[in-house]
Amino acid sequence: MNYKQKYKNLYQATSLSDYDISSEIDFVIEMLTGLSSTDILLGKEISSADDIKISEILKERVSTNRPLQQILGKAYFAGNIYSVNKYTLIPRPETEFLVEKCKQEFPKDKIIKILDIGTGSGCIAIELAKYYTNAKVTAVDICQEAVDKAIENARNFCVLPKINFLISNVFSNVQESFDIIVSNPPYIPFSTKIQNDVYDYEPHTALFAEDEGLFFYKKIITEGKNFLNKNSLLAFEVGFNQGHDVAEIFKQNGYVNILFTQDCDSINRVVSANYL
Ligand SMILES: C[S@@+](CC[C@H](N)C(=O)[O-])C[C@H]1O[C@@H](n2cnc3c(N)ncnc32)[C@H](O)[C@@H]1O
Repeated sequence: MNYKQKYKNLYQATSLSDYDISSEIDFVIEMLTGLSSTDILLGKEISSADDIKISEILKERVSTNRPLQQILGKAYFAGNIYSVNKYTLIPRPETEFLVEKCKQEFPKDKIIKILDIGTGSGCIAIELAKYYTNAKVTAVDICQEAVDKAIENARNFCVLPKINFLISNVFSNVQESFDIIVSNPPYIPFSTKIQNDVYDYEPHTALFAEDEGLFFYKKIITEGKNFLNKNSLLAFEVGFNQGHDVAEIFKQNGYVNILFTQDCDSINRVVSANYL
């Protein structure tokens, strides 16, 4: 049976590109059956029970515009499957550049303390806890339901003993100092019009920030100096046009080695700096 064409027909009412539709269908098939798009091309069969479930999920996606990751409660990050809920931002591929930047900073076996601010699903904290063999990670978020999900993910990836999860308004409940502070904070200005499915279904506390989206960068860069060890790293994901503003805030606060990392679309996606 040509499953792909059959499922594509369910998307007739949407304005999604053919590429996006195809990726969404592959994602649902994989999450429900474990079959890859190659398996399907090679003629592997989907059971009729799975076929019904897949069609129902795709119909819900098309009729509600709710992101598939929320319908399924699962999302890919760094090649791994994370559990998500309506309180956690769906992890984005751009954020993998932030994780990579943090991995490159120190030797893998360094005894290292890491703070992830705004942990959401826990994806950054967990990937760093997996990579740095001697890491002690603190992961904070203001949202209890997000932290609950992050704990579930940390348990699934067997790194729960390495991560201390805290409810904290940025640094309010943080008491130690760190070699890496990393954050993908809310950074969208309230005035920005964003995609309808993101606006309607993803948590606004994870998306929007005051001060043209710069509120958390200013707060973390200034207050962070009290929580950073000597020769430490502070690294952020930033919005598509925020790189130079964030670099300027770093500069005004005496940080050095201010660097941009570009994403696949050549956008300055990560801004990082050292605190000496
Ligand atoms: C853009 S999301 C990032 C989630 C996750 N780290 C990721 O990269 O997918 C920002 C996160 O910051 C959290 N947050 C918002 N305001 C906060 C605050 N004042 N203190 C701590 N966390 C906050 C949100 O709940 C959300 O989980």
